[in-house]
Amino acid sequence: MDIELEKIYSGKVRDLYQIDVKRVLMVATDRLSAFDVVFDDVIPGKGEILTQMSNAWFDFFKDDIPNHFTGESVYDVLPEEQAKKLEKRAVVIKKLKPIKVEAVVRGYIAGGGWKEYQKTGMVSGIQLPQGLQLAQELPEVIFTPSTKAKVGDHDENIDFQTMSELIGNDLAQEVKSNAIHLYEKAAQYAKEKGIIIADTKFEFGIDENGVLTLMDEVLTPDSSRFWDVNNYQVGQEPLSFDKQYIRNWLESTGWNKEPPAPRLPQEVIEKTQMLYQRIYNLLFL
Ligand SMILES: Nc1ncnc2c1ncn2[C@@H]1O[C@H](COP(=O)(O)OP(=O)(O)OP(=O)(O)O)[C@@H](O)[C@H]1O
Ligand SMILES: [Mg+2]
Repeated sequence: MDIELEKIYSGKVRDLYQIDVKRVLMVATDRLSAFDVVFDDVIPGKGEILTQMSNAWFDFFKDDIPNHFTGESVYDVLPEEQAKKLEKRAVVIKKLKPIKVEAVVRGYIAGGGWKEYQKTGMVSGIQLPQGLQLAQELPEVIFTPSTKAKVGDHDENIDFQTMSELIGNDLAQEVKSNAIHLYEKAAQYAKEKGIIIADTKFEFGIDENGVLTLMDEVLTPDSSRFWDVNNYQVGQEPLSFDKQYIRNWLESTGWNKEPPAPRLPQEVIEKTQMLYQRIYNLLFL
């Protein structure tokens, strides 16, 4: 859709438009990326679900950490016609100075963490107990940062020491303790709704006063693993309401994870839509 603002960035999923020097319109599109490759096929409605879900979490955390919202709505910055079309997927945000590290938190061992653990017994430099099984709860929540790769590149796990060297020790500590706190608070909330949040990734930025601020998307099925408590069994691939379904399907096709991405069957698109809508409903309706 045409937006009468200058597009200043196009990520794998979100497009950023400049409102003025301090403010940005962030629009979540329906694009899908998996293994850092963007697909030709979109998941209709996904951007709206991601935005609504992030908004709900930002609100949930409003007393825990400042967030990137300016407090304005899309109606304040776009003509009414456009605002109407975009209101569910767009937000008006402060342009922050992004911290160039992804704040990954894990309460359970899965995904890339599981792969790394099987090879080395560690995740992001943290030694874990021997004999963990797939999807097992960790003895304590761990912080496993990764670098923020440019479009087309892959994020890379780094240890806390490396993160400290990149952004400074004090800031690294602050990011870590905030990320763990937010994860634990959300995980407790979700548990009451029958959902395990296995892991997630937060992004933070610094505002004009130097204050650490939560930004980007929060605890969505693109950035997190959500498992059904009732089907959860240690050692088994959990029933998940998130991107894992697509990743598993892709692995089953034998795709080498290099562009071009394969086309998605209609059935896979619809199942993804269903899973994304379902986790939103389970947590917030
Ligand atoms: N308040 C903010 N200020 C500045 N940048 C932000 C803010 N909120 C989000 N961003 C950035 O906007 C982009 C959102 O796009 P998207 O989520 O599609 O990116 P991505 O593909 O996940 O990551 P990237 O494009 O950075 O590799 C990210 O680069 C994110 O760091
Ligand atoms: Mg992103």
